[in-house]
Amino acid sequence: MIRANVKKTYRLDRHHVVTAVKRADMVVREQTFTVITGPSGSGKSTLLAVLGLLEEPTEGKVLLNGNEVQTEKERARVRLHTFGFVHQYPRLHPTLSALDNVLLPLALMKNVTTEEVERGRALLEEVGLKERIDHLPFQMSGGEQRRVGLARGLMLDPAVLFADEPTASLDPENSLLIFSHLHKWFLRGKTVVVATHDPIGVRFATDVYDMREGILTKKSIRKSDPDDDECKDCASAY
Ligand SMILES: Nc1ncnc2c1ncn2[C@@H]1O[C@H](COP(=O)(O)OP(=O)(O)OP(=O)(O)O)[C@@H](O)[C@H]1O
Ligand SMILES: [Mg+2]
Repeated sequence: MIRANVKKTYRLDRHHVVTAVKRADMVVREQTFTVITGPSGSGKSTLLAVLGLLEEPTEGKVLLNGNEVQTEKERARVRLHTFGFVHQYPRLHPTLSALDNVLLPLALMKNVTTEEVERGRALLEEVGLKERIDHLPFQMSGGEQRRVGLARGLMLDPAVLFADEPTASLDPENSLLIFSHLHKWFLRGKTVVVATHDPIGVRFATDVYDMREGILTKKSIRKSDPDDDECKDCASAY
């Protein structure tokens, strides 16, 4: 469980401070699908970065299972072993294939085993990229590159997956595909936290928060169920 009660400001220079998150008080329970909506510039990415221990809050704390993650070494360990990130723009390595991009987080740490290569392949197949495994990023569409980014975020089997605008500038069909994959991950017992403009995302959520001018409010909690009427497209996307 992640508990956060935070404020985040950025100092631009001696005289100017931007308050990106004025007040965010939230709990991300285990095995939930949390969606944070809100207009551009409202502080969603900043909050996700703070929750994901990529950035430190200016005020307040982020508690992981009741404990503050104190040192940068511990924070790095949590980011590596417990958290996964899917970034808005996947920033794939341009000279590496889809598969090598997925394996990159592991390859930076150690020699990659045959089983891990197989896992990378299986993840790419699962996100519908069986035919693109050996393609370089420039040989793939924007939506395909996003899915490589998603597979990369899942490679280390994170308990908590953070996704920042995973469907930005995708058409509704591709957006649904991405959310369906995220939802699948949630159904496997993982925790998913997504910041998105995309109204499709809310259909998959167990918990919805809305960010307005840096202030977070809780919208609703309901069981995420792809069979329910509001979510019928999600089911058909599997
Ligand atoms: N590193 C930074 N330095 C200064 N200001 C920043 C920084 N990062 C974000 N901001 C500011 O904080 C505010 C919130 O930004 P943030 O990226 O969190 O919004 P967002 O809700 O994710 O927007 P979008 O939907 O466009 O991605 C914005 O006004 C932004 O300009
Ligand atoms: Mg953002």
